[in-house]
Amino acid sequence: MAGKIPTQFIDELLNRVDVVDVINRRVPLKKTGRDYHARCPFHDEKTPSFTVSPQKQFYHCFGCGAHGSAIGFLMEYDNLGFVEAVEELAHLAGLEVPRETGMDQGPDLRPLYALMEEAGHFYRRQLKHHPDSSQAIDYLKSRGLSGDIAAAFGIGYAPQGWDNLLTALGKDKPTLSRLLECGLTNEADGKRYDRFRNRIIFPIRNPRGHIIGFGGRIIGDDKPKYLNSPETPLFHKGRELYGLHEARKVNNKLARLLVVEGYMDVAALAQYGILNAVATLGTATTHEHLELIFRTCPEVVFCFDGDRAGNDAAWKALLTSLPLMRDGREVRFLFLPQGEDPDTQVRKEGSEAFRQRIEHAQPLSKFLFQQLMEQVQMETIDGRAKLAQLARPHLEKLPSGVFRRMLFQHLQELVGIKGGHLDTGNRGGIGTKRSLANRQTLNNQRPTPVRIAIALLLDAPHLVAVADSVTDDWRKWDAPGIKILNRLLEIIRSQPTLNKAALLERWRESEHFSHLNKLANYDLPDMDQEAELRDALLKLNQQFHKQTRPQPGNLRPSELSEELLDELKRRYPGSTGQDDG
Ligand code: UTP
Ligand code: MN
Repeated sequence: MAGKIPTQFIDELLNRVDVVDVINRRVPLKKTGRDYHARCPFHDEKTPSFTVSPQKQFYHCFGCGAHGSAIGFLMEYDNLGFVEAVEELAHLAGLEVPRETGMDQGPDLRPLYALMEEAGHFYRRQLKHHPDSSQAIDYLKSRGLSGDIAAAFGIGYAPQGWDNLLTALGKDKPTLSRLLECGLTNEADGKRYDRFRNRIIFPIRNPRGHIIGFGGRIIGDDKPKYLNSPETPLFHKGRELYGLHEARKVNNKLARLLVVEGYMDVAALAQYGILNAVATLGTATTHEHLELIFRTCPEVVFCFDGDRAGNDAAWKALLTSLPLMRDGREVRFLFLPQGEDPDTQVRKEGSEAFRQRIEHAQPLSKFLFQQLMEQVQMETIDGRAKLAQLARPHLEKLPSGVFRRMLFQHLQELVGIKGGHLDTGNRGGIGTKRSLANRQTLNNQRPTPVRIAIALLLDAPHLVAVADSVTDDWRKWDAPGIKILNRLLEIIRSQPTLNKAALLERWRESEHFSHLNKLANYDLPDMDQEAELRDALLKLNQQFHKQTRPQPGNLRPSELSEELLDELKRRYPGSTGQDDG
């Protein structure tokens, strides 16, 4: 990780991306009046109480209290960290995330990215100009790969020999050590040599387009058939999907991704116009893979060989998918004829027939029940009871929602129970319950004047004019809420165009963020906001004067003169309650 992300960048980012657009890609929104609405993705509901305001660039659910900016939405919905969410949005907006230079920010990975890029360039150049390149080109031709596709995927060639890359790139000591760190060279007995030799090279890019690793296919029949980059600071095999960057590059609003096994499958499908395939890199599909997929689009079709191994792999993918099957997401399974992979199949039957296979891929629910039903005898009561027993733990993994309810219902129908004994459509799981409970406490704050003022100004920054028109003696008051209010006014005055989302983000890393975040969610019913703010600020002023004038509680009786006592009694007939501001 490099340094802190500058505040101005967050401002600009929230200015450039539209929260409506960001949310709409994940939760389809409907416009009513000025705002957009949907059923809340964070709790189970029948009528839409989830509202997105394009003007404030803010979302808010009146049902469960979820709320925030586009950044906050990605953090919550896609389960991202702050930095990841910012990077994701920046990618959407076509911006590079700048970093402030600072200390203690972990290693700077930029030189490694640069070196990988250089290596990618080197391999591509070998495919064109190396004396032996005809071998590689002939191989690609024999696999039916067109020049266009080779170029689109940046396919290259690592020639025979131990030190082609080393000689070309290893110009100095730091670079030599980076070559090792990136896994481009290996070391044995103090000698270094190129990792990739006599192979077709597939650069693996992260979603942002940086080369993070390579896959190399042997030209001919040697072993191993494929060699991948090892785990490096840039490359973590279980998290990356080959072809994702390339797919998003041609279509940044993908509706569906197809998950296949191999590099060649992705390339062949692309050549046949099927441009949404990605490959896991010789590993089973992981939770991280699926999160990455669902960050991109709501639907995934897994493509497997129709043999036993393919079936097992599909079942594993199903198990990994279950906890992620939030409403609106879809997972399906496509089984190819025995012995075929997408590469051979699409070349054999063409793209139209292959597309038909995708259209007719099995839904997750069907595959799930079919697999389980194969293990029991459905004609017997005992067999059906066994089915219920087998299915339950799997269905329990589904998040709350309509899909979960439907699958439980379907199980009931299969098993033949009436009256809903199996019905656990609502998950009492930690995730949903805890966050709901948290949210319910959000509004349990006393609406003190300073809180009201902050909430109103966050919600409608243009009200700063009201603040400018009333006395602000309170400004000098040394109390936490006051400091925040002062800072808020200061920011709004200097940047009047910041919306609610951008204002709130200013506090993201502050200890006051959670407090402010609650205020951002204050229930502000239809009210005369100007009058409310004026009133709050006037009250604040009163509180301030009350606090700073001598009060009975401030001095011990012995310290009070008779005169002062009389004065105090006149002014404060009852005892005064103090406010925390
Ligand atoms: P396959 O063995 O199915 O090969 O491996 P393939 O993709 O059909 O390759 P071609 O068509 O013979 O060229 C599927 C994927 O598993 C990983 C690679 O990512 C490969 O694309 N794999 C396979 C390895 O990492 N190492 C291997 O030795 C084999
Ligand atoms: Mn193949």
